[in-house]
Amino acid sequence: MIAKLSKLALGLSLVTASTLTFAESITFDSHVKQDTDTLVLFYGENGANTSFKNFDKQSNGQLTKAIKAADFKGKYSNTIEVLAPNNIDYQRIVVIGTGNKALSKSTATKLGGNLSAKLEKSQIKTVTVAADDLANNAETAALIAHGINLRAYRFENYFKEKRHEKSFYFDVDNAKATRKAYKPLSYIESGVFLARDLTSETPTEMTPVDFAKAAKELKKYGVKITVFNPKQLKKLGMGALEAVGRGSSEGARLVVAHYKNSDEAPIAIAGKGITFDSGGYNIKTHSSIVHMKSDMAGAAAALGTVKALAMGKEKVNVVAVMGMAANMVSENSVAPGDVLTTAQGLTVEITNTDAEGRLVLTDAMWYAREKFNPRILIDVATLTGSKVRAVGNEYAAVFSEDDNLVKQLTMAGKEVNENLWRLPLGYKSALKSGIADLRNTGSSGPGATTAATFLQQFAGDTKWAHIDIAGNALASSSKGEVPKGGTGFGVRLLTEWILENK
Ligand code: BES
Ligand code: MN
Ligand code: ZN
Repeated sequence: MIAKLSKLALGLSLVTASTLTFAESITFDSHVKQDTDTLVLFYGENGANTSFKNFDKQSNGQLTKAIKAADFKGKYSNTIEVLAPNNIDYQRIVVIGTGNKALSKSTATKLGGNLSAKLEKSQIKTVTVAADDLANNAETAALIAHGINLRAYRFENYFKEKRHEKSFYFDVDNAKATRKAYKPLSYIESGVFLARDLTSETPTEMTPVDFAKAAKELKKYGVKITVFNPKQLKKLGMGALEAVGRGSSEGARLVVAHYKNSDEAPIAIAGKGITFDSGGYNIKTHSSIVHMKSDMAGAAAALGTVKALAMGKEKVNVVAVMGMAANMVSENSVAPGDVLTTAQGLTVEITNTDAEGRLVLTDAMWYAREKFNPRILIDVATLTGSKVRAVGNEYAAVFSEDDNLVKQLTMAGKEVNENLWRLPLGYKSALKSGIADLRNTGSSGPGATTAATFLQQFAGDTKWAHIDIAGNALASSSKGEVPKGGTGFGVRLLTEWILENK
């Protein structure tokens, strides 16, 4: 409440910065904190909010004058900044528009991200957010805090100067209810940040063995981790995954992360985990090869999802099966023209060594189905440049024969600003080989679809969807709640979908 001027003790800080990543310190209380440098006020298009009116009065109408001068109308995410306001102790007041309707899950999160971006300057260290006049303010404030934290994340392992953490003090009606609403979001942040860390890390420091090591960190949340080395993969018959790993000295790994807190059949997530994609002998010749450290983002999203669910002690049964390899050039690398045998038994002619993601996924999908008999299998992969050309990087592409599954996934994505667009399966005849059961690239047809149809041959009769996140995994510029670099795309979408459909 605005009227309460009492100083308060620091509330519970739910988010602490880890050594790798960076987020803000967030506190919820039912007071306005007086001694921060910055105050944030909300303003809807349908008229000024209560806090704005109160501070406007205190400043003898300065805020009203300022918004008039800036022609500010409260449009969604528009902001004005008033420096050194009259009769008010804060150094600055930032007024942010909330638009002409109540904030939803997706718009509140994005607003938090945009607000975070506005407050990036280094002289801002402590921020009071007057959120008690927002509709449904416990949930809404929690989502805004979520957006702030998601956007404030930095991967700063390699910078000499580290960014300073900001402290946010939210004034809400019911601090307890807000903390309760924020808690599951803080676990999702942890899952997203893990996926971003793994994706942004350099190819030399994030090999299949390093990834397996990172997965083992989840044991402390009750996740069972199993790792298979190349010798074990061969024994299990995983000739495709093993072959893609052959070009690097460490070789491939299959990493399995199982979080079981329900007796239902599991949901399985197969992740493409190429820690660097040189293309192999069909080497990549474009400068965009520099982005190929992020070719393990599908595996990172799978692991991040398991982390978020396990930290939240959610009553679900989820297993991530991640096919990890570095697609490198060496005398041991798989060669164009080679024929591999997948664990499922189908043989594949290698018509292009750069179509390696679908190869590691065949064996990951086989393992998921064979060992876990999942009720649904989703694979997530930075699979094709063709997908980027088709729908760009504001959508990921989803492929499935199951209309309802596509609908569920698409709706979950909308809630969290991770949008999906459906593309068709088909063109199976383009995968015919003269020497093996399949070829690994389509002889004709759209590339994203022929890749998806290749994977479909390994889904058997399991309810299955393929999500191509090429272009979504690594952002070249910041937007909304997603800063540039590894995005963790898929963690929020999959967590939302699993929790909404359990
Ligand atoms: N990892 C790439 C796909 C990719 C491209 C991801 C751009 C992110 C951004 C994948 O392994 C690949 O190289 N795909 C080839 C397939 C082709 C050889 C049939 C492609 O899309 O060009
Ligand atoms: Mn490739
Ligand atoms: Zn690749």
